Amino acid sequence: MSGLFRRKPIDVLIDHTAPDRLRPSLSAWHLVLLGVGAIVGTGIYTLIGVGAERAGPAVMVSFVVAGLVCAFAALAYAELATMMPASGSAYTYAYASMGEFPAWIIGWALILEYTVVGSAVAVGWSGYAVGFLDSVGLDLPTALSVGPQQGGLVNLPAIAIVGVVAGLLIVGTRESANVNALLVIVKLAALAAFIVLAFLHFNAANFEPFMPYGFPATTAIVDGEAVPRGVMSAAAITFFAFYGFDAVSTAAEETKNPGKNLSIGIIGSMAICTLIYMAVCAAAVGAVPFADFAGSGEPLALILREIGYPQVASILGLAVVIGIPTVILAFMFGQSRIFFVMARDGLLPRQLAAVDKKSGAPVAMTVVTAVVCAIIAGLVPLEDIAALANAGTLAAFIATAAAVLILRRTEPKRDRPFRTPFAVIVCPLAILGCLYLFTSLEAITKQFFFIWMAAGVIVYFVFSRGSSLLGKK
Ligand code: ALA
Repeated sequence: MSGLFRRKPIDVLIDHTAPDRLRPSLSAWHLVLLGVGAIVGTGIYTLIGVGAERAGPAVMVSFVVAGLVCAFAALAYAELATMMPASGSAYTYAYASMGEFPAWIIGWALILEYTVVGSAVAVGWSGYAVGFLDSVGLDLPTALSVGPQQGGLVNLPAIAIVGVVAGLLIVGTRESANVNALLVIVKLAALAAFIVLAFLHFNAANFEPFMPYGFPATTAIVDGEAVPRGVMSAAAITFFAFYGFDAVSTAAEETKNPGKNLSIGIIGSMAICTLIYMAVCAAAVGAVPFADFAGSGEPLALILREIGYPQVASILGLAVVIGIPTVILAFMFGQSRIFFVMARDGLLPRQLAAVDKKSGAPVAMTVVTAVVCAIIAGLVPLEDIAALANAGTLAAFIATAAAVLILRRTEPKRDRPFRTPFAVIVCPLAILGCLYLFTSLEAITKQFFFIWMAAGVIVYFVFSRGSSLLGKK
């Protein structure tokens, strides 16, 4: 058992003189945009329809529940990211607080979060892209536009967008961050237009009955099939819409003045998105009966068409096609950095941690991330991957909130540029909230999650434990 809980000293984590560190180039402004770029995506544009199907008009409540849990987790992330401005996010925090084996487990769960989110969003993007191509007369055959489970062969647009985003990342962080800023503006402008137009058609009667399927996660039989219902079941999916602020923390090593800029980036991006989501939910539910857009692949465009703005609906679709790749960008960026740190620590093959001298980007890791992301995106349907990404993210949030509490005890004197307010209340609430959301996921998702984690345990004992750099010291 010896060495399983060996901890990485924080002074080593934040040692900026190590030769293979990443170059600081990002400002607070870049980080807020990176955060918003990672947060606003398939969740609000597409999964709001799945949420409405499961919760009715109370889809708003599901967003409030998921948003609250994320807000608590964001406070924990802000404390750790500013205290340890090193790449690796929850993996790094677990290495410093709980030791190597728990850190590996969290790193393994983060692969579900980051790579699988990238795949899920690429598939969501593909749906809009195929629709847009169709509207300009370019009809992509079904065989090349969806994966095998939906009657196709491979989802080619999803693979293509992953390739484009990986290319941007390889060119270098700063360039990618600037492209990201522009696309974030496109995405937010489309949501703003939706909010204004939908509120013009607000009808309070659409909120009745408010909670037709109750609060807890349950299943109902519809057309002979068991389907998930209830506000918590919706929250377990709409949770997807909120995360991404944690991607900011993965850029810690590359941030200028991280003590100040990271907390602005994490909390600022989270707060902006929560406000926007509340407005989008209220506008959507108020504009048309929820059943009209429940389960739609493009709910916001559908609502705009229903209330008489077909051209705006098409422009919104185009904005999604242009803007949503920022989400894939932020998560692939985060994943390549987490892999990079795990390889630098010796838990993954070390030659993968090489940094390109000119761009400063970990090229090999970015390519590996892109290939895995593209394979999943090319073959697996959206609904199967979004729930799984949520499971991995919930595990990472739990670890982060626990790490705050542990480090308050083990490192009480260390400088904390940002302190989680009322940590003894906020962190346990974050953990309990995440556990409640996790139990509200569908059984099949939970099963797959545990199989994935068991595979991680095997990899650790077969490879990582023996090659760990910390173990050789
Ligand atoms: N929050 C991100 C999205 O909704 C993952 O696409």
